[in-house]
Amino acid sequence: MDLITTKIRRAFPEKMADLLRFSGRLAVEMGYTAFAVGGFIRDLLLGVQNLDVDMVIEGNAIEYAKRLSKELCGVYVYHKRFGTATVFIPSLGRIDIAMTRTEIYERPAALPTVRLGPIENDLYRRDFTINAMAFSLDRRHFGELLDPFNGRKDLKEGIIRALHDLSFVDDPTRIFRAVRFEQRFDFRIEPHTENLIKKAVGLKMVDRTQKQRIREELISILSEDRPLKAVRRLSELNELRFIDPDLKLKNSTVSLFNSADEALAWYDNTHISRRHALECWLIYLAVLIDDLSPAKIKKICGDFVFKKADAAKLVSYKKNEKRISAVLSKKGKLKPSQVYEHLEGFPYEVMIMFMAKTRSQTARRRIMSYITKYAHVKLDLRGDDLKKAGMEPGPHFKEIIRRTLHAKLDGRVKTKNEELGFAVKTRRYHNGNKAGTHRKRDEGYNFGDNQRGDKGSPDRLRHGNEGRGDA
Ligand code: CTP
Repeated sequence: MDLITTKIRRAFPEKMADLLRFSGRLAVEMGYTAFAVGGFIRDLLLGVQNLDVDMVIEGNAIEYAKRLSKELCGVYVYHKRFGTATVFIPSLGRIDIAMTRTEIYERPAALPTVRLGPIENDLYRRDFTINAMAFSLDRRHFGELLDPFNGRKDLKEGIIRALHDLSFVDDPTRIFRAVRFEQRFDFRIEPHTENLIKKAVGLKMVDRTQKQRIREELISILSEDRPLKAVRRLSELNELRFIDPDLKLKNSTVSLFNSADEALAWYDNTHISRRHALECWLIYLAVLIDDLSPAKIKKICGDFVFKKADAAKLVSYKKNEKRISAVLSKKGKLKPSQVYEHLEGFPYEVMIMFMAKTRSQTARRRIMSYITKYAHVKLDLRGDDLKKAGMEPGPHFKEIIRRTLHAKLDGRVKTKNEELGFAVKTRRYHNGNKAGTHRKRDEGYNFGDNQRGDKGSPDRLRHGNEGRGDA
């Protein structure tokens, strides 16, 4: 018997301990047995707070999850594909609930057939000894650790060990998981397990796995705190070839990872980071595949079924990176409005990638100014103000607004009145040049020519007056 209630008390808020006890009582009342399992136990033993509870039920897990959600006023979500459920408890965390499963792998790398089985079988189907522990939530045995594979010992010794020799053949995504846990905890994949991985890699087991499952593992690895470590290890185990046969971890890729880290550290310290959380994994993925051709990058996006928006960011970076670096690294003065014109419409992730890739300090400084200042400049002027000034609404409004915004970016107008004055003047000028054959010489704008072919600018007719200054 191994009581770990003290750990629970230390690691979690009191409410969480109460929740676990309540969950156990409810299971008994329904004639079931409940266990907390997997990563939740691993993290508990490591003293890492993890408020995502993985629970398994010897019994009807779905009925149990519905009831638990009702009793705790939670939000119940059923995952049809997996036959599992999640209960979200406001201000506390989430509980993923499944039945204790016995899995049968009919074909290597295919998803297994599952049926209800005892907890021991459920632990045996898991990936590594450190993830194959459970503790009972039943009041009479609360906190009793079930550890049939000596996971606790491996956890103490820092070892990643597969439960059986077919583990990576049954589920090749575990190859990536082994590396992820090894690098996250600074553990070591033990030699026999490493051999099993090498065999599975040699047998090209990953090629027989659904690409979407590999994509999820890749995203998890690139979402870790220090993804370069894990990527190095993947490379060492010859696993990068599953992304693309030509993919290599070159010295230039390593330094790009480091530059991306620097750019992200800078971003984290800006006031913008609180408002726009970045998909850091996407930045690291762009870094990892930077050496591949645009056509290959498109193919990877298609093969791995990346979300359209994510794929668009990767492609946009690849297509524009050289041009942006060239125009923004030009010596001499670039007006804020010119920097704005070049960068407007690019997602933040793409701009961070530009920052990481460019070798020009000037270009980097200009991107920083855009992110922290220019992107937030808004006009005080509203469409109604233009109408009141006697202007007929129409497509030219957009153009006038754009020019006025540029004037504001460059510090040529400050107050709302000045904005209006500038807009009226621009309108007259616009009328005088209806044929559109020439432009004022000092304006280096590229009106109506969206070089990126992506969406137009957001509504700039809002308040805000940051953003002055030279780029
Ligand atoms: N698991 C497994 N094989 C997999 C995926 C998951 O055996 N291919 C089991 C492991 O026991 C794991 C548990 O399911 O602990 C939960 O998986 P998951 O939520 O993906 O990972 P965690 O171990 O909780 O790790 P993380 O901290 O990254 O969420």
